[in-house]
Amino acid sequence: MNPGRPNIIIAIDGPAAAGKGTLSRRLAAHYGLHHLDTGLTYRATAKALLDRGLPLDDEALAADVARGLDLSGLDRSVLAVHDVGEAASKVAVMPKVRRALVEAQRAFAADPPGAVLDGRDIGTVVCPDALIKFYVTASPQGRARRRCEEVIRGGGTADIADIIADLQKRDARDAAREDSPLRPADDAHLLDTTEMGIEAAFEAARVLVDAALEH
Ligand code: C5P
Repeated sequence: MNPGRPNIIIAIDGPAAAGKGTLSRRLAAHYGLHHLDTGLTYRATAKALLDRGLPLDDEALAADVARGLDLSGLDRSVLAVHDVGEAASKVAVMPKVRRALVEAQRAFAADPPGAVLDGRDIGTVVCPDALIKFYVTASPQGRARRRCEEVIRGGGTADIADIIADLQKRDARDAAREDSPLRPADDAHLLDTTEMGIEAAFEAARVLVDAALEH
């Protein structure tokens, strides 16, 4: 590693099930960077409240839980369930919770040689000075199909109409909140994964990252 070189930060935002996670993991592996799925930090905060039978709308309490979170202990398999995602998008509207989690996410990004972070507000709030930013989208049908396949691969059953309704509800809440709403940063590259497979999305992103690294 070059000690004079600033950390490499790749910011990836977009709505649920657009392919951010797979793309982020591929980019992190390719460039030897850390990876943080910031959605897991909101999910872990929500799950800790649910597990203790605590309300989801007590901001001071939720912020305390968020401050106590250990990012090294985030377990995707327990946090991926639907009810936790729904609860996460409720705690995510609270500014004090966001402040606590954003601080932890920035500390993660500061660890050399840098990181790929994916979420909803990485390019706009968490890492506005990222080397490069992507906003990953896909049609509601494309995203629902992807989410359906994930559920079925995990041994569950899924109804595509229910999933579309659910994704739309969550997107609306994420885009309408006052603090850090879901939106592309002005300097983000848009990647629509509806038609392109994840491999093509990765290739497109890689070419842009390589060009940014050469500057
Ligand atoms: O991406 P994932 O579905 O795991 O995120 C769960 C919820 O956490 C989202 O619906 C969103 O409300 C919230 N979130 C957020 N900011 C992020 C990442 C996730 O508000 N950077």
